[in-house]
Amino acid sequence: MEQSMDYGKERVVALVDMDCFYVQVEQRINPELKNKPCVVAQYKTWKGGGIIAVSYEARAHGVTRNMWADDAKKLCPDLQVARVRESHGKADLTHYRDASVEVIEVMSRFAVIERASIDEAYMDLSASVKQRLRSIEDVQIEPHLLTSTFVQGYPQATTSQDKTEDAMLDNDAVRLKGLGQWLASLPPTTQMDSADLQLAVGAIIVEEMRAAVEQCTGFQCSAGISHNKVLAKLACGLNKPNRQTVLPLSSVTQLFSSLPISKIRNLGGKLGASITETMEVENIGELAKFTQGQLAQHFGVKTGQWLYDLCRGIEFEPVKPRQLPKSIGCSKNFPGKTSLATKDQVQHWLEQLALELEERLIKDRDMNGRVAKLLTVGVRLAGETKPSSYSRCCALARYEASKISTDSYAIIKSLNCAGNHQQAWSPPLTLLHLSASKFSDAPTASYGGGFLSE
Ligand code: CTP
Ligand code: CA
Ligand code: CA
Repeated sequence: MEQSMDYGKERVVALVDMDCFYVQVEQRINPELKNKPCVVAQYKTWKGGGIIAVSYEARAHGVTRNMWADDAKKLCPDLQVARVRESHGKADLTHYRDASVEVIEVMSRFAVIERASIDEAYMDLSASVKQRLRSIEDVQIEPHLLTSTFVQGYPQATTSQDKTEDAMLDNDAVRLKGLGQWLASLPPTTQMDSADLQLAVGAIIVEEMRAAVEQCTGFQCSAGISHNKVLAKLACGLNKPNRQTVLPLSSVTQLFSSLPISKIRNLGGKLGASITETMEVENIGELAKFTQGQLAQHFGVKTGQWLYDLCRGIEFEPVKPRQLPKSIGCSKNFPGKTSLATKDQVQHWLEQLALELEERLIKDRDMNGRVAKLLTVGVRLAGETKPSSYSRCCALARYEASKISTDSYAIIKSLNCAGNHQQAWSPPLTLLHLSASKFSDAPTASYGGGFLSE
């Protein structure tokens, strides 16, 4: 196969992820929480509630997500606890979703973005970088344009004396030393096709974008800048919070030599586990010892080729222009004794979820001019550990809570093994999930408002 020298370095791709996002949203609402060890917890009833977001000050005390707030306070007595709002008897994430829209709007001024979750987005900066390079004068890029940028793999410590010296420096001095080294190694800005130069300019644009996000929303974030989504995502996590990391392809071999396969985007689950097991390797870099044929034999031609490139830091998944979520969903867990064991309970909670879904769908239609056509209901049966044991779907004809909840009940009814004449629901349900998807443009006002409407 013919491969150009810059195979895998064609694009500049960045991933921006908000730092302890829900915490920052709560800190903006209540500024007294700023710069303090702080968590966001949901529901108070059991052990002070479950923690879903943790400030970096609290992380320093060993507080983590999924701890009970009461347990976290034992680690960190002056911990501040913000509470998730509740409505329809369940957690209400409206504040965080609205804050997410604010952030996405600012980012979209800089690039075409793909919203990847409530607090992160990918962007393909290739075109903006080339445009910027054309406008930059023929000078070296200065470190003061990259005030929060780390370059992975730099400073290059070659001798043990280098390493001892670097160990004496504080974190930002090491950052600056590495950045300086890397910038000095770049060609002049006239050499526009240099992949590393393009990353440097991408990093300048992301510095500007992050400054604008903080300026306009008050929220801080981190970012990764590299040649594809996998590397950008990985790089983003290397120097959190409030920092960005450039990952040149030449630093990948070293990074991948001790990076567990599960840390790679899309390899956190079953596929990653099966790779570790079948090929008897722990780190992603170890996959480079296999031929394309060997990888294809175990994982199929497509996945084999993907892995062959991936373990060398090469990947081609495009950034898809999409600012809106692909689905709108809500769910509630009913753990242990709270599991739903009667038809009435199941109906009641489907109604509550349908009310939230209706509210959010109408808001989405009004703001985004689109309507969802598919309704999916997911459940988990008591005793199951999988996120969702069954799901069923049907047409979503109208944005109307009562219709959504009766349709939902109708399509999961058959999962109830208790007799038709009984009030019981068995086996009990430990999770209910409603989700709307398959969006298309909403009919325009003139069309829907005329005599053709119901
Ligand atoms: N979240 C959640 N449940 C999860 C994962 C995430 O509720 N299982 C919420 C968190 O509360 C969080 C937001 O989604 O604030 C974004 O998640 P993530 O980026 O993973 O973590 P952050 O809290 O933003 O922390 P970090 O600074 O490490 O990104
Ligand atoms: Ca985050
Ligand atoms: Ca995230």
